[in-house]
Amino acid sequence: MEDLKGLILSGGEGTRLRPITHTSAKQLVPVANKPVLFYGIEALVEAGVTDIGIIIAPATGDEIRTAVGDGSDFGATVTYIEQDKPAGLAHAVLTAEDFLDGSSFVMYLGDNLLKNGISSLVESFRENSPEAIILLTAVDDPSAYGVAELDGDRVVGLVEKPENPPSNMALVGVYLFSPAIMEASRALKPSGRGELEITEAIQSLIEDGREVQSEVVKGWWKDTGQLADMLEANRLVLQEIETRIDGELENSKVEGRVILEKGAVLRGSVVRGPAVIAAGTVVEDAYIGPYTSLGSNVVVRRSEIEHSILLSGATVEDLGTRMEASLLGRDVRVTRTDGPPRTFRLLVGDRSEIEIV
Ligand code: G1P
Repeated sequence: MEDLKGLILSGGEGTRLRPITHTSAKQLVPVANKPVLFYGIEALVEAGVTDIGIIIAPATGDEIRTAVGDGSDFGATVTYIEQDKPAGLAHAVLTAEDFLDGSSFVMYLGDNLLKNGISSLVESFRENSPEAIILLTAVDDPSAYGVAELDGDRVVGLVEKPENPPSNMALVGVYLFSPAIMEASRALKPSGRGELEITEAIQSLIEDGREVQSEVVKGWWKDTGQLADMLEANRLVLQEIETRIDGELENSKVEGRVILEKGAVLRGSVVRGPAVIAAGTVVEDAYIGPYTSLGSNVVVRRSEIEHSILLSGATVEDLGTRMEASLLGRDVRVTRTDGPPRTFRLLVGDRSEIEIV
């Protein structure tokens, strides 16, 4: 069988992660200090899929090109494909027609994370050559996803974001397709949300009696499109890191699984893992609690932070109250001074969220 190509979708507007996504692609938000997108590329390469097309949007495409380059760092060859508008997953497939050139392919949504990768899925596609394999997982809020209607193990129907879900089994953002998906996508009409839905294209394959197989995800899966999911993904990935202390400790204590990169400094601080702290970051008279990722050149002084992601260049000083479940963008500053009057002074971008609890 001709080898599979990879198609990673890294366009989209990331509306549910604003304001971070006003200035940066959602697929580049780091989980355990590595962009979400990189996990997807690595999963494809690990499954032996190295000819990869990445769908990019006009607004964030350059940033993604800069981050991923030609793919050689990952052992892949990357082709960039610009999608002029976020018109749906099936529209992305149609946009990639020249790149795909009649091959079967793995489609991977660039903000998805799968603990166990996709190797076994790719293997099973290579062995059985169905028209499609979809991946399913049980979720609490199926209405937010594509949902499968099942008859035992067999998928008998798929519906996108149903008001009355036929099951709690959601479509995960990884799909394997034969070229038949191209015709099915071409025949679609825009859905209620104005998109060409891949869910409907797969549904039409089922209706045509083509073989659509399904597998249930083993291990965890996260779609990192929203803050709570992003923090949860960070927590899940951090849980599995191995301690590595290459940075400097001055009068500080590290407990549990912690990665302290070379060039990071802890002074008079306690870090209770799992946590990762990138190069150039300074933590002084502070407490860094579990499930925290500090990007490069972050400064934390006289403050406590837990279960949070701080992007590079962020500064947190003299908070007085523990900060948790937070995502701070690049070069964000959060500080507090002690003298009266006790007020808030904020310079906050569009659609930021501040919760005083
Ligand atoms: C998309 C798909 C949906 C799938 C989800 C997985 O939803 O349309 O079927 O369950 O990805 O992440 P969207 O992210 O466009 O809301």
